[in-house]
Amino acid sequence: MEEQGLHIETHPREGDPLVRAGRPDPCTMVLFGATGDLAQRKLFPALFELARQRMLPDNFAVVAFSRSEHNLEQFRAQVKEGLKKFARTQPLDEATWERLASKLEMMTGGYDAESFIRLREHLDGISERFGTQGNQLYYLATPASTFPALLDGLSSSGLLYREDASVKRPWRRLVIEKPFGRDLVSAKELNRALTAVIDEKQIFRIDHYLGKETVQNILVFRFANAIFEPLWNRQHIDHVEITAAEKIGVEGRGRFYDETGVIRDMVQNHLLQVLAMCAMEPPVSFASEDIRDEKNKVFRALRPMVGGEVAKYVVQGQYEGYREEQGVAKDSKTPTYVALKTYIDTWRWQGVPFYVRAGKGLSKRATEVSIHYKSVPHCLFNTSDTCQRLQPNVLTLRIQPREGIGLSFESKVPGEDINLSGVTMDFDYSKSFNKPVPEAYERLILDCMRGNTTLFARQDSVEQAWAWVTPIIESLDSGQGGPMHTYAQGSAGPDAGAALLARDGRRWTELKG
Ligand code: BG6
Repeated sequence: MEEQGLHIETHPREGDPLVRAGRPDPCTMVLFGATGDLAQRKLFPALFELARQRMLPDNFAVVAFSRSEHNLEQFRAQVKEGLKKFARTQPLDEATWERLASKLEMMTGGYDAESFIRLREHLDGISERFGTQGNQLYYLATPASTFPALLDGLSSSGLLYREDASVKRPWRRLVIEKPFGRDLVSAKELNRALTAVIDEKQIFRIDHYLGKETVQNILVFRFANAIFEPLWNRQHIDHVEITAAEKIGVEGRGRFYDETGVIRDMVQNHLLQVLAMCAMEPPVSFASEDIRDEKNKVFRALRPMVGGEVAKYVVQGQYEGYREEQGVAKDSKTPTYVALKTYIDTWRWQGVPFYVRAGKGLSKRATEVSIHYKSVPHCLFNTSDTCQRLQPNVLTLRIQPREGIGLSFESKVPGEDINLSGVTMDFDYSKSFNKPVPEAYERLILDCMRGNTTLFARQDSVEQAWAWVTPIIESLDSGQGGPMHTYAQGSAGPDAGAALLARDGRRWTELKG
């Protein structure tokens, strides 16, 4: 076609954004837990990348609040060392580092009233010096056990207050990291403590999966293309598989993990969020609350597991050697793997099983959603044997790694005979777009500064998700939810995980190493 001068452009170049992300507001980010793991591995690298791309507000400062004694120079040196390991763009660009370092401040103190008063004075000075207009973003990168003391300190000192549209004051936002409680009761308690002090719209609950480009793209894929949505329902879909497999073990987080386990760590939050993005109805607009409303309906429609159903529909496992990890109890009963089958009781999804699995110490790292379509209704091709070989179409949303989307379908193998073979149409981010996929935290930190809550978990959804997982966890903990299976590190998980699908005549997508 090209040669005859006709060029059909099927993929127009990127134009003006359809939804502009908007400029982040001038602000001071007050970081609690600034010397911790999360800050070092994720937050400072994200800030560094944003500084490199000049996406941070011009009037911006970070105040690290630390309980351990450090002076500013030591602290900056420590951040720089972390960046050398964890920043996305290496080697570290010195000019960017100088720019970011000039905005890094610190304060040492405890979680007592006197320290918060000092912090307030310190922040007043910073606001003047950096022109941040008094806006403050409090980021609690600390264990959940510190939240009550921090909330209390921030609100009693007047640093954190409920915004009121009728009074013009600088904004106040609070960022918290999961776990948002350990079960439904504690999640409600946390939400009560938060909303006693501030409004839901001031709360940014980070679920970093929502900041992943590939997770955001689920909505674009579904709602910006006309051909998939009509097939996105029980008439056409046989089942849905959601996998988050990790090769790594608990990696020095043994103590935390042993109290948490895979369901709290991955399912209650990340995987249910991904499931909701896949299963939700089209929102009336792309506005934050419209999207969050639709997701919440999915959480409400998750079919509860009652009685013996946990033993039937949930498989738990622990990798061999887990109990020897540092910080893990020698007789630990904490699962590092889970596979489960559930249903979403809505008109669209009635009867379509959703299989979810997550685990550490598996053969490969892969997070993906596979939509398995139904088989053809009638087979035209020769013998029934051929027909049995026909593979139903599978649409795979690869969240990570090899970010992209694949669609498998049957094709004729060239030749005189009719011979069929499965082939794949593939979209690969790295080949289609000439830029790397940003890290989730880069996007999420900017959204906090913009006040855009779309990609954050809302109170009702967090509680709905807990309402669904808590009975599962309780049943497993009580021993009634079935045995703990073990599996070899580097395997695909326990055999019982495979058996869960085999019973239904299905199988998981292979986790080939
Ligand atoms: C975190 C969990 O929330 O997500 C970790 O606490 C897990 O245990 C991690 O390894 C996975 O994140 P990602 O982005 O590597 O898939």
